[in-house]
Amino acid sequence: NTNNISPVLLKWYDHNKRDLPWRKSNLFYPVYLSEVMLQQTQVKTVIPFYTKWLIRFPSIESVAVSNIDELLKLWEGLGYYSRCINFHKSCKILINKYDSRLPENEADFLKLPGVGNYISSAVYSIVKNFPLPAIDANIKRIMCRVLKIKNLTPYNNKRISNAVEKFIDKDRPGDFNQSLMDLGSSICTPMKTDCYICPISSLCKAMKTSSPLQYPLKKSKGIKPLKCLAAVIIFNKDKFFIVKRPINKMLGGLWELPTIELKTYISPNDQLFKYIKMTYNITVSINRKITTIKHSYSHFDISLNLYNCNLQENNLINSEFASWIKPDDIKHYAFSKSNHKLFNKLNLNAWNI
Ligand code: ADE
Repeated sequence: NTNNISPVLLKWYDHNKRDLPWRKSNLFYPVYLSEVMLQQTQVKTVIPFYTKWLIRFPSIESVAVSNIDELLKLWEGLGYYSRCINFHKSCKILINKYDSRLPENEADFLKLPGVGNYISSAVYSIVKNFPLPAIDANIKRIMCRVLKIKNLTPYNNKRISNAVEKFIDKDRPGDFNQSLMDLGSSICTPMKTDCYICPISSLCKAMKTSSPLQYPLKKSKGIKPLKCLAAVIIFNKDKFFIVKRPINKMLGGLWELPTIELKTYISPNDQLFKYIKMTYNITVSINRKITTIKHSYSHFDISLNLYNCNLQENNLINSEFASWIKPDDIKHYAFSKSNHKLFNKLNLNAWNI
């Protein structure tokens, strides 16, 4: 098959593959962990998290028996925390039902929390040599260029998956998938195509045009909405009040200063006062805004305003979801990045002590 990109791609991969920590073996647990961490996150960000994680949690069992708070602390800074919560749940199911092994049947693996087509195909192709294409944004982009596709319509998506299924190397499907990942991260990137060194340029239809970058056409993303949030730092002597986010919500399981989304038609002070009183039964008088930070999430941006307050009623409750901690204890809890931005601005050690 002279049009098949696979033989040249694999030859290129053998000489050029990135030396990545999860490529040292094809064992189920480290490969599965790597694919979960790599979803929506860049390789260079993942590497230190992955390495640290494997030292602390060398097996599925070690994850399954561990406390979610400790897992989230190690995941802190990697983002998309539901991946961590789902991975924990999956590891428990894997030891209970599958003897900690990759299920024989792919349909069983796909039932685990957080496991979708992409992760499943990546894992089965790498660990068990199943000829399943792991089609992510990189591979879609490369195939759009190979096939000269401008728009990712359902019809064209089907053409892409048909082509990759036809091309995938039946002996080395994991390497085939990973060779496309490497090509997409170096030679055939969203903003740059180095066709002169690309192993599959002679099989690429976009290369023969004057501007391969227009395959596929970029969708304009529109503007992200901006949410205005207010957080409050409540000190009681040398301790301040933090709360844990509900596990099934965004950033679930992470700790933060009590935070609300501001409505524009009520003053921030009144909203904060009421919220703190109603939710935590703590009476405070809100003083003033002391700092603001900005942070970007995938679907919206936030402007987070931090308010200072005086504690009126001294009500030291501690529970699974609320805690009074010293600035020195911050390192023991997993906080969202936006809260770390606030802490960095505050110089908490010089506060109220
Ligand atoms: N992105 C997702 N999976 C990957 C892998 N196995 N190697 C490199 N980048 C990846």
